[in-house]
Amino acid sequence: MNAIATTRATTRSPEETVALGRALAADLRTGDIVLVCGPMGAGKTYLAKGLIAGMGGAAEDDVASPAYDIVHQFPGREMVFHYDLFRLQQLSGEDVEWIMELLQQDGVHVIEWGDRLEGALRRPFAKITIGFGESDEDRVIDIEGAQP
Ligand SMILES: Nc1ncnc2c1ncn2[C@@H]1O[C@H](COP(=O)(O)OP(=O)(O)OP(=O)(O)O)[C@@H](O)[C@H]1O
Ligand SMILES: [Mg+2]
Repeated sequence: MNAIATTRATTRSPEETVALGRALAADLRTGDIVLVCGPMGAGKTYLAKGLIAGMGGAAEDDVASPAYDIVHQFPGREMVFHYDLFRLQQLSGEDVEWIMELLQQDGVHVIEWGDRLEGALRRPFAKITIGFGESDEDRVIDIEGAQP
């Protein structure tokens, strides 16, 4: 399970959020689940760009929200699965079953709007919650490492 430490960070630009993601990627191992949470426009996709680029999965410019496909896959140091559950407002039983099956695949699973899945997860996960800060480009980022 990942070694992501529980901490809080503040970033002051999208680039800083990408850099934070890159730094966190070093601690990710196959099987890890990272929920990326926060309101629209918080910076979940920027954080995911950093995580995926840091895993060697793609250049950050090649990572976009998989809003319509729900999941994108990037072969890197480990396979990285990048999900965006926004379109699945109400997760149906079938949706959950499908996602649970994908989560069995070897790799690192990065899930935007991951709080929607939280109650259904049966193994430890890390949770990153992004909130708005005082200035326009400030983001307060709460990082919770996986609970055993
Ligand atoms: N410190 C920051 N970190 C990340 N993004 C920032 C920051 N400051 C400003 N922004 C801006 O906030 C927006 C974040 O967009 P992003 O697509 O990452 O959000 P999101 O949480 O994925 O939204 P959605 O729920 O719509 O997918 C971008 O327009 C970005 O330029
Ligand atoms: Mg997004």
